[in-house]
Amino acid sequence: MLPVLRPHGGEEEVNALREVIESGWWGKGPKVAEFEKKFAEMVGTKYAVAVTSNSHGIDLVMKALEYKHKDVINPTISFIATAVIPLWNDCTSNIVDIDPLNLNIDPDDVKKFLKKDSDLMIAVNMAGIPAPIDEIRSFYDGFIIEDCAHSCYTEGAGTKGDTAIWSFQAVKTMPCGDGGMITTNDKDLYEKMNQMTWFGVSSTWSRVRQPSKKDKISGRPGYTWDYEVNTIGYKYYMIDIMAAICLEQMKKLPKHLERRRYIQKRYNDGLHDLVQRPAWSETVQYYCARVPKEHRDQLIDYLGDKMIHTSVHFKPLHKYKVLKQNRNYPVADKEWLKLITFPCHPGMTDDDIDYVIYWVNKYFAENYKKS
Ligand SMILES: Cc1ncc(COP(=O)(O)O)c(C=O)c1O
Repeated sequence: MLPVLRPHGGEEEVNALREVIESGWWGKGPKVAEFEKKFAEMVGTKYAVAVTSNSHGIDLVMKALEYKHKDVINPTISFIATAVIPLWNDCTSNIVDIDPLNLNIDPDDVKKFLKKDSDLMIAVNMAGIPAPIDEIRSFYDGFIIEDCAHSCYTEGAGTKGDTAIWSFQAVKTMPCGDGGMITTNDKDLYEKMNQMTWFGVSSTWSRVRQPSKKDKISGRPGYTWDYEVNTIGYKYYMIDIMAAICLEQMKKLPKHLERRRYIQKRYNDGLHDLVQRPAWSETVQYYCARVPKEHRDQLIDYLGDKMIHTSVHFKPLHKYKVLKQNRNYPVADKEWLKLITFPCHPGMTDDDIDYVIYWVNKYFAENYKKS
């Protein structure tokens, strides 16, 4: 089966893992610190907090903002996390419609459905395309989480929101299995979130590695078992085992993105005219094409028979029982029926690309005239 998405690693990741395992420090330590520093540099923000996933990152930001019993705006074309995490935090999820061109959150719809207590928004860079945050800022002054789960790395991503949250989940562009990062320029928010990543306790590594300094609490130099807890938190932090893989994937990112762009270009050039190309061929996470809706499910089955795995990113979130809204979604309801994601990942060979193009085009050659 040719998968729609797949991580691509090798000896470098294996060696990095071996180094961490043999070092005897598997938890949060020097690899996490190095990854946070390098990632913040890549994005161009002052601070970064590595966490266990993008989902935990959104949850942590909401907890740090003490955002409860209020309304959270988020787009209907997204992964379920962005609409459910507000509910998980005792908030309402105010799901809005999308722009038909790029599937991103629609500023006009945001304006129309803003509530008095809509002070937080999760703006997803859908399939890597930047959400229209500048336009939204012209009428909305609440806090914006820029969801960069699909935009690692799109030039400029992570710099428009008040904070940005990234994903290193198994099939993302820089995967480690599961992981996430929060980037921000807000020092107070950063410090609070950092403390909240482990029940408000300072990390063991930070206490071990300063033998010359006196510990603030015990007054003794060197490793101290003692710590103070001034903030209530939970367990959100990334560990060195994951950070070691991320650091290797980060080195390979430019090469992997180049390969993804190459695959997209080949699709753009070679697929049948009935396949509507993604709005932006720089998109790095998904090749979200559109086909006439009467063909979409049939094409998915047809390609499945040829061992080509496709997907749909995404079924609109307002269609899920737990997320039902009391309004209509004319754009998303129309567009999502056409959506189909074709395989795109750096391990694909030229033969794989030719194979996908061949069978998609053959499907339309066999079926289009009949419809
Ligand atoms: C837009 C979006 N936000 C958040 C997430 C959640 O990311 P994670 O799996 O790292 O929690 C995903 C996962 O695919 C996503 O697509």
